[in-house]
Amino acid sequence: MNDTINLLMNHMSIRKYKDQKVEKEIVDTIIKCGQMAPTSSHFQHYTIIEIKDQSKKEFLSEIAGGQRWVKEAPLVLLFCADLNRGKKYFEDTDKEVFSNTECYTVAVIDASLALQKSFIAAQSLGLGGVVVGGIRNDVEALSKEFKLPEMVAPLCLLCLGYPDENPGLKPRLPQEEIHKVDFYDDSNQELLINEYNQTVKDYYIERTDGKTQDTWTKRSGSYLMAKTRDEVGVFFRKIGFLKK
Ligand SMILES: Cc1cc2nc3c(=O)[nH]c(=O)nc-3n(C[C@H](O)[C@H](O)[C@H](O)COP(=O)(O)O)c2cc1C
Repeated sequence: MNDTINLLMNHMSIRKYKDQKVEKEIVDTIIKCGQMAPTSSHFQHYTIIEIKDQSKKEFLSEIAGGQRWVKEAPLVLLFCADLNRGKKYFEDTDKEVFSNTECYTVAVIDASLALQKSFIAAQSLGLGGVVVGGIRNDVEALSKEFKLPEMVAPLCLLCLGYPDENPGLKPRLPQEEIHKVDFYDDSNQELLINEYNQTVKDYYIERTDGKTQDTWTKRSGSYLMAKTRDEVGVFFRKIGFLKK
């Protein structure tokens, strides 16, 4: 074990923060670390918007279905997949190419890696936080509020602050289920999923004094169906993504 492994192994989403500002120098370091994430062909297809205005934080919290931590977090960063910059400035390109699924995929990966690097940097500096995808409940309103141009897709927030809770580690799938060697071996899958369902159920029973007894498959299914957000694809096409 070293300090980095220790940090990574102790990740937990933090949704309650101390009333303590995050200094500008720390914010700059967090963003700089995000920028040092690997990026496909050095394209850097993302933009990060720091939300300082409290009324905008409240707007985001509302859109995300009233998620309290969005308006309470001292530092809120909106991560966007951004093909607008490349489309405008990359030389000798067929502009149509930016609308293909490959470009969209690359932009989402780039933005996600930058987000994760920022998150780890923040955690290493004593901050805690949570990724919030709930803002995609209304991508059109979001786009308007933050004046996003065509080919800039809002993906999610990274809400950060100094932790004022310790929710504990959430169990992950058995390593064997996600780590395969040489081919996609799913011969043990049912057993592993059943085992994991029991682990997750025990976790929720303990965490909620028995009020929640969900298994992983049950909870994931109901979360997925609660918000399918089919309109995200429609809007992303409208602003130029995913046309071919
Ligand atoms: C893409 C993405 C979207 C997420 N959206 C939300 C969200 O809208 N609200 C929330 O409270 N947590 C959200 N989370 C946090 C997850 O719920 C959390 O990471 C997961 O349950 C595992 O828990 P842990 O981070 O504490 O280990 C999101 C995480 C990711 C990666």
